[in-house]
Amino acid sequence: MRNETQDDLYIGVMSGTSLDGIDAVLAQFPAAGQPPVRLIAHVHHAFADELRAALFALQSPVENELHRAAVAAQHLARGTAQAIAELLARAGCTPTQVRAAGVHGQTIRHRPDAGYTIQLNAPAVVAELTEIDVIADFRARDIAAGGEGAPLVPAFHDAVFRADHPRAIVNIGGIANITGLPARRSVAESATASTADSVLGFDCGPGNVLIDLWHARHRGGPCDRDGAWAAQGRSDPALLAALLDEPFLSAPPPKSTGRDLFHADWLDRNLARVDPHGHLALVDVQATLTRFTAATIGSAIRQHHPSAQDVVVCGGGAYNATLMRMLREECAAIPVLDSGSVGIAPEHVEGLAFAWLARAYLAGTPGNLPAVTGARHPRVLGARYPR
Ligand SMILES: Nc1ncnc2c1ncn2[C@@H]1O[C@H](COP(=O)(O)OP(=O)(O)O)[C@@H](O)[C@H]1O
Ligand SMILES: [Mg+2]
Repeated sequence: MRNETQDDLYIGVMSGTSLDGIDAVLAQFPAAGQPPVRLIAHVHHAFADELRAALFALQSPVENELHRAAVAAQHLARGTAQAIAELLARAGCTPTQVRAAGVHGQTIRHRPDAGYTIQLNAPAVVAELTEIDVIADFRARDIAAGGEGAPLVPAFHDAVFRADHPRAIVNIGGIANITGLPARRSVAESATASTADSVLGFDCGPGNVLIDLWHARHRGGPCDRDGAWAAQGRSDPALLAALLDEPFLSAPPPKSTGRDLFHADWLDRNLARVDPHGHLALVDVQATLTRFTAATIGSAIRQHHPSAQDVVVCGGGAYNATLMRMLREECAAIPVLDSGSVGIAPEHVEGLAFAWLARAYLAGTPGNLPAVTGARHPRVLGARYPR
């Protein structure tokens, strides 16, 4: 059995807009020194087809959705509890050694413009099944304080990825978000300025969501593995231009988005505009969607964080080799790195961020960055469901 004290072990559980499944991590936060976080174990728990279909259906209005959402939330909670049990078994830990689990839940609607965001979750069930304190509902307080409720990962990116030079972090999940980090401050500078204010972050547009959608529709399966299909096609300039016309892309931050905007109808509307008779080869559409994701990320970095000297990519999109090649082309002179090369594997970053946010909750420390979300104030995020 591990001999860490309870104080430094946290769990983070994330399931993002890709709807691929749950990523759960067990993390240790050393009291002092580097690195600020150490991964102890990771479990990926893929959604069963039935649950994925239920979550997918709930992204837009459906009949009897309150009941369906409550049932799906309980399935999600049982999957989360299983993933947590597996983490503990792998690490040889008991629940009592874990301070808390930060459980994000599954976003099914994200409407900060209407004052809400909905993450399906059943934290009481997770607490009951795991006998671990659960921290959940991280986004609501930021929205209550006038923010977008997203992205919440930039504060964590700042804690773990800050370098001696300005750097951009790109998380390519279903949606892509960017964090712009300034160079690490000298001790003298730190005394006079708030570092959090100079971190920027926002959702820049789709990540894998359209790439996954087109692949699922025409080739089946959850994703264009390694970008192999897109690699065989050619990006179509007219379709690319139509997609880039989307007003969200040029709107100034703070901004956040989701499947509420980038859904199948959005893609089909653009396709109908450019290619009403369906002459475009399917593989060229796949190449265009991959180029579109790379182009929106590249242009967001050029426009909002032009001083970045490197780009660190995390999230599942880091495993799409064609997307990474296109992103390197879009970023031209600056190196594009996989987050694994700077210490944290792409699939671990978001889970670790929610472990970190759970720890911030227990410490009574704000988790949001007002400069990122647009909230009026820093706020402690989340609510606790005791074991
Ligand atoms: N080997 C791979 N090749 C291509 N795409 C991949 C690969 N591995 C993961 N992905 C992409 O990453 C997505 C999952 O990324 P993730 O960071 O979990 O996103 P989210 O946070 O939205 O769930 C998958 O849906 C898929 O599009
Ligand atoms: Mg995922």
